[in-house]
Amino acid sequence: MSHAQEMFKLAQKTLANAYSPYSKYNVGCCIRSHSNQYYVGCNVENASYSLTCCAETAAIVQMIASGEKQIKEIVLIAQSDKACVPCGACRQRIREFAELDTPIHMGNHEKIFFTKTLDKLLPDSFGPEFL
Ligand code: THU
Repeated sequence: MSHAQEMFKLAQKTLANAYSPYSKYNVGCCIRSHSNQYYVGCNVENASYSLTCCAETAAIVQMIASGEKQIKEIVLIAQSDKACVPCGACRQRIREFAELDTPIHMGNHEKIFFTKTLDKLLPDSFGPEFL
């Protein structure tokens, strides 16, 4: 099984744990780190809507808390008929820990629909090397 296939299965399991009573839009994410560890996250909503945490952010926090800093690949899916794409804020959060050619696989609960590099999703981006 490819990394992406394994990651898709983990994202599927995590999707089921999403806490999304307001939007009812369940999101699951799996990050593969430099050392081939997998980190998962789901969205966690809040009655005070703006406190919502996205699935990608949750997975990044897991990765950082585990002592890793390099994202090699991402799978992002939602319980939906359309592929989930990362929101603007999460694209920038991914930018902090990934290379411009890092692949991001986007899909729904059944399959991956397409894959794009971070650079394609966030062109002309600002990152750590500017500072
Ligand atoms: N959501 C994510 O988890 N990641 C994204 O990149 C897009 C949006 C979540 C946040 C919220 O719980 C729900 O999807 C609807 O916006």
